[in-house]
Amino acid sequence: MRPQTFSTRITDLLGIRHPILCGGLGPRVSDARYVAAVVNAGGMGFIVGAGFPDSDEFRNELRTCRELTGARNFGVNLYISRQAGGVERVKQQIRILIEEKVACVETAGASPEAVVPLLKEAGIKVLHKVPAVRYAHTAARMGVDGVIVVGNECGGHPGIYQIGSIVQAAQAPREIGLPVVIGGGIGSGRQLAGVLAMGADAVLMGTRMMVAEELWIHPEVKAKVVAGDGSESVVVKSAIRDHHRVLRNESAEAVMELDRAQVSEFERFRPHVMGALAHEAYVTGDTRKGMIDYGHAAVFADAVRKVEAIFDDIIDDAVAASSRLKRLMA
Ligand SMILES: Cc1cc2nc3c(=O)[nH]c(=O)nc-3n(C[C@H](O)[C@H](O)[C@H](O)COP(=O)(O)O)c2cc1C
Repeated sequence: MRPQTFSTRITDLLGIRHPILCGGLGPRVSDARYVAAVVNAGGMGFIVGAGFPDSDEFRNELRTCRELTGARNFGVNLYISRQAGGVERVKQQIRILIEEKVACVETAGASPEAVVPLLKEAGIKVLHKVPAVRYAHTAARMGVDGVIVVGNECGGHPGIYQIGSIVQAAQAPREIGLPVVIGGGIGSGRQLAGVLAMGADAVLMGTRMMVAEELWIHPEVKAKVVAGDGSESVVVKSAIRDHHRVLRNESAEAVMELDRAQVSEFERFRPHVMGALAHEAYVTGDTRKGMIDYGHAAVFADAVRKVEAIFDDIIDDAVAASSRLKRLMA
């Protein structure tokens, strides 16, 4: 493992060696084993709470992660659904996080307002993930410890404004007085160096990590990501204003057709976007069906490797990029 090279407000806040966060990969993709690999390699990872609706199973997953990480901190992704009961479900999981002494959370989805006080009272660090800087301002007012801003290139939900990461990486640190993490299309150390130079405190990756050896997903899915260069990434569900960046496959094509026709009833989308389809793809390796979150950073995922090897490359590349900048100034 590389020694600590960059010290930022995020490495201090989370007690981690490298300013590298790996976002929750849901449901059940980023499990205890993967998150532990991220944490043990010096970053911060997040188990996706939504993947464990059963309290006992959730608690067991947290305990497994604790066993695998020893004294190191690890995190949980809490997706706050806008649907009825969404906040209540998250609150139930927070009770378990407190009992199991989880150090930090990545909140995403709806406003975290209803849960921030609970988390803060328990000393759990809150990083709220947003797809545009305008939402980061709102989160900052709610008392979160830091914000994660993901740009349009991100696998998952780039939001309705679809502003690119390079714009937001320069904008967010200038406007937000809290530690800032930048995600969306990140997968190399030169981007890490660039983001730190712009005033941010860490990067967050998702797509780049789909080829981590420690992820349980089918080798065929990883092979697809290795072979891809990001041009297979498309945004769907724009007609229902739930923009979703995914792998272009049969389901994505069908949804793009609905988008083109400006269909607004969710029921027409449901057969193509059911979470069970993506889960099936991860299990069987057949990626033709399902919304498989997939962003432009696939271009950096050139081999299946251990998390630690991926991080080592990123740190080396970031150091090289920093040196290049110094040489240019001389
Ligand atoms: C396979 C996959 C599954 C994801 N699942 C979730 C999820 O369940 N919850 C969430 O908040 N973000 C999810 N994301 C988004 C990531 O946490 C992260 O924000 C995003 O991947 C960063 O952009 P990048 O893909 O360009 O690195 C997922 C991303 C991927 C690639």
